Amino acid sequence: MKNEWNLKRVFIIFGLGLFIASCVSNVEEERMVIEPAEEGEVVDPNMAPVISFADDVKPIIDARCVVCHSPATRSIFPNLRNFEEVKARAERVSTRVGNGTMPQGGPLPNAQMQLIVDWVSQGALDN
Ligand code: HEC
Repeated sequence: MKNEWNLKRVFIIFGLGLFIASCVSNVEEERMVIEPAEEGEVVDPNMAPVISFADDVKPIIDARCVVCHSPATRSIFPNLRNFEEVKARAERVSTRVGNGTMPQGGPLPNAQMQLIVDWVSQGALDN
């Protein structure tokens, strides 16, 4: 009788141990899923990468558009020197880049074109 009770205790403690261990491992799994979102790499439910204006779009526009679209240079409307100016024409920027008619003289490489079009379709955010 006493031995039987001891055996039950062993099982209860073993069971509790398993339960706690499974909780701990669940937390780790959750952490693995959440981490990329915290780094700002993956946010969309369908896992599309979020395009950053500052990191992805502005460098392309500075290198390929501002040479014409700035009063300091060729002064061709619209100015595209900063976020506000690009945002104000975001749909046109997307259309002209997407159909290859801007920059004048030859389309952007596909990857850069895609970044700009995706940034606009994600709401042209100041991110
Ligand atoms: C070599 C000069 C030059 C470069 C570089 C250039 N553009 Fe233009 N852009 C023009 C000229 C000229 C016009 C006006 C004639 C026209 O619309 O085609 C114009 C017009 C535009 C317009 C307004 C017309 C509309 O469709 O609403 C937008 C938006 C535009 N460009 C976006 C861009 C973007 C984005 C880039 C860089 C990826 C770029 N451009 C690079 C010369 C340039």
